[in-house]
Amino acid sequence: MGGRAIIVSIIMGLASFIPIHVYGESSSPVGQFSGSHHHRDQMRKLQSFKASFLRRDLISLPPSSVSPSPSPSVAPRPRVYHVTSYGGDPTGKTDSIDAILGAISDAFQGPSDGFLMAGIVNLGGAEINLEGGTYTISRPVRFPTSGRGNFKIYGGTLKASDNFPIDGYLIDTSVSSANNEEYNYEYLTLRDLMLDSNFRGGGIQVINSLRTSIDNCYIAHFTTNGILVQGGHETYIRNSFLGQHITAGGDPGERNFSGTAINLMGNDNAITDVVIFSAVIGIMVSGQANILSGVHCYNKANGFGGTGIYLKLPGLTQTRIVNSYMDYTGIVAEDPVQLHISSSFFLGDAFILFKSINGIMNGVNVVDNMFSGSGNGIGIVQLDQTNGPFKNVDQIVIDRNNVKGMNIKATIARRSLQRTGSTWTVDFNPTLLFPNLITSVQYTLSTTGSSFPNHALRNVSNNCVVIESDMTIPASLFVMVDQGVSS
Ligand SMILES: *[C@@H]1O[C@H](CO)[C@@H](O)[C@H](O)[C@H]1NC(C)=O
Ligand SMILES: *[C@@H]1O[C@H](CO)[C@@H](O)[C@H](O)[C@H]1NC(C)=O
Repeated sequence: MGGRAIIVSIIMGLASFIPIHVYGESSSPVGQFSGSHHHRDQMRKLQSFKASFLRRDLISLPPSSVSPSPSPSVAPRPRVYHVTSYGGDPTGKTDSIDAILGAISDAFQGPSDGFLMAGIVNLGGAEINLEGGTYTISRPVRFPTSGRGNFKIYGGTLKASDNFPIDGYLIDTSVSSANNEEYNYEYLTLRDLMLDSNFRGGGIQVINSLRTSIDNCYIAHFTTNGILVQGGHETYIRNSFLGQHITAGGDPGERNFSGTAINLMGNDNAITDVVIFSAVIGIMVSGQANILSGVHCYNKANGFGGTGIYLKLPGLTQTRIVNSYMDYTGIVAEDPVQLHISSSFFLGDAFILFKSINGIMNGVNVVDNMFSGSGNGIGIVQLDQTNGPFKNVDQIVIDRNNVKGMNIKATIARRSLQRTGSTWTVDFNPTLLFPNLITSVQYTLSTTGSSFPNHALRNVSNNCVVIESDMTIPASLFVMVDQGVSS
């Protein structure tokens, strides 16, 4: 007990000694401390030494640098790692990257509960707690080793310093050396975080990971990607806000917005209830089987060169976009094959553009959406055939969309007319999406006269339906055409 008391009094001495120096040096800007580097290292060691005593209740294992008479039967500790206990500066004045990496390192060496996927150590829900602070970091938060799962980082702000690598990500799950595991990480949760890239790179990079959850994050000031997902699968991004510039629309600098808010280069991910308020591309998708639901894009107006959602998977798209709000910024899909867009609202002349790469379009539904525009005759769905026409077209359903102030475009169209005559021509070009393509026609010819004329469908070329009868009659004609089905 006597020895303990002495240690405690030394600690108390350090505790009163350290803050004076921490405050004293906090005025030097982050990234310009080369002169005081050595001193800082000393301070950091002192701080973590102090922290190891003051916060032992919060740390599952004592840091390896100190071993104050460890008792062999330690009671189980909560697996919460507080970054201030590792010397993190929650005011953001000094660089906290080493403190955050220290907390993660301890979490990675903490107790585990077997494995998740083969090779992924289950950390049992270990938490790296940012304690509501703002931490400036001069390097990306990268993990010391791959093959860990079931842990989270939450509850604070990370901000890139002025010397943060220009192509870095604040949180980066890439691994430097080739690892043997199928996945780098599994069930990593990033929650309640504000990530400020300070116009130096991106926010989160999820590489070759499984079941990553990004929840209630606000990601701003990125120059590359707000979130990049590459390889792996089941990254769920939900209830989050992303924008290069902090704005709420009508920004005078909108023409200059750049960067991509979310870049999905992997399969089987979900983006749900996410707002993208500035970026040249809201969501770029180049992996299959992703679902976007409840996305509100007002990242950069079409008229300024922006795109809300860009589907760059020609020939195998396999994407669903539902319940979304495309606000002055539209959707572009290259050679869409299996694409579903429904129950979404397109405001401000926002439209869907299908861009021909190899002229293939197959299995596309654009149904039950609302479009609202300014009355300038913008088509709700348009084709870009500068690389050649769409020539391989099948199973396209563009129908049942309601339209105000824009031109309706569809693959199914209906029209009726009343006229006395023997030839009736109905031009469907104003409505039909594809030029010169009608694959099926249904018509009803009714007459109030007493005769029973013979009549027939004569011609469907150039999207014009011609019906002819063998005598002149007063007639009502109803015609329905479809471009969607080839056989
Ligand atoms: C946009 O960028 C150009 C060129 O960098 C610059 O001259 C212009 O002032 C910027 N506009 C706004 C509104 O920020
Ligand atoms: C169908 O109409 C086009 C003009 O639109 C014409 O060139 C073509 O010969 C017509 N076909 C028949 C079978 O009458």
